[in-house]
Amino acid sequence: MSVQPTIFYQKEAFNQLGIYLSTQSVSKLFILVDENTKKHCLPLLTEKCEHPFSLIEIKSGEVHKNLTTSQYIWQELTDKGAERNSLVLNLGGGVITDMGGFCAATFKRGIGFINIPTTLLGMVDAAIGGKTGIDFNGLKNQIGLFSNPKMVLLIPEFLVTLPVRELLSGLAEVIKYGLIDDTSIWETIKGFNTRKPSVSFEIIQKSIQIKERIVQQDPKEKGVRKTLNFGHTLGHAIETHFLSKSKNEHLLHGEAVAIGMILAVHLSFQTQGLPLEIVHKISTVLKEIYASTIPSKITTDDYQPIFDLLKHDKKNDKGKANFILLSSIGEAVLDCQISENEILKAFTYYNLLF
Ligand code: GLY
Repeated sequence: MSVQPTIFYQKEAFNQLGIYLSTQSVSKLFILVDENTKKHCLPLLTEKCEHPFSLIEIKSGEVHKNLTTSQYIWQELTDKGAERNSLVLNLGGGVITDMGGFCAATFKRGIGFINIPTTLLGMVDAAIGGKTGIDFNGLKNQIGLFSNPKMVLLIPEFLVTLPVRELLSGLAEVIKYGLIDDTSIWETIKGFNTRKPSVSFEIIQKSIQIKERIVQQDPKEKGVRKTLNFGHTLGHAIETHFLSKSKNEHLLHGEAVAIGMILAVHLSFQTQGLPLEIVHKISTVLKEIYASTIPSKITTDDYQPIFDLLKHDKKNDKGKANFILLSSIGEAVLDCQISENEILKAFTYYNLLF
């Protein structure tokens, strides 16, 4: 994989984009948007970057992160004359940067792309680290490759128009960094007014630095990078399972990760000696922040489909689900093998919380 891209912030981000476009002989510029980023983010980008471009617009949402939409993107690139020296600007959240990166990295064996995350989740997680991909046959990120963007442009101004629910979804990844790595982030989150959490630029930068450091050490997720999947093993299975239900039951990625983190801290109590008092503290904070959007119960009907989905987790080793758990706040433990019975106990704990 190419070297880790530099992240440029605010005004410097637009400067660097201008420099890149004027020095790298970009033959054609494409901007990938969805209906939300077209409306709320594209005007600022085109005001700051006057380079001619072709627009590719797709529908927002995880349900569209699939082969059909990828085919549409490849077709648009073909019809609009993309060449090896073309460049794609992925302007959006995790769906746009994951799928736009995937389509660019595979088109004509790879054309350049730049990620411009417009959601908190994109800024602190999805747009950094070189993971690209799409969902396939109901399995999350099943098809994809590691491929780095040329750079990542971080413009916090985009967060102003972000719906609160989306902001809170991204906050789950920030909380994850606090729990696996940086107790100072966790201390800040604990002190939040959970009815009106606000995310500072400082906390965004801290989160990005943690992700960059971990990815630098382990770009292909052979070891320490797995810690970034804390809350995601059950979180992904739950997100996918709820996507198969009616639209009003769909969960945003961070919401599913919040549920996954509650379950993971209980598993940490059962198997890693994480004190129950800490489990309660973490679960209470998560419950308060996400109470209005996450289900209050995981019903017995949900159990089997979630277990079935766990069998496809990318971290599985020799057919067994591998969890990232905590021995204390800030200390993650890799490769924890967990039984279905232990997961059932975690579900029971979750159901008693609400
Ligand atoms: N989202 C986890 C990772 O990038 O490794």
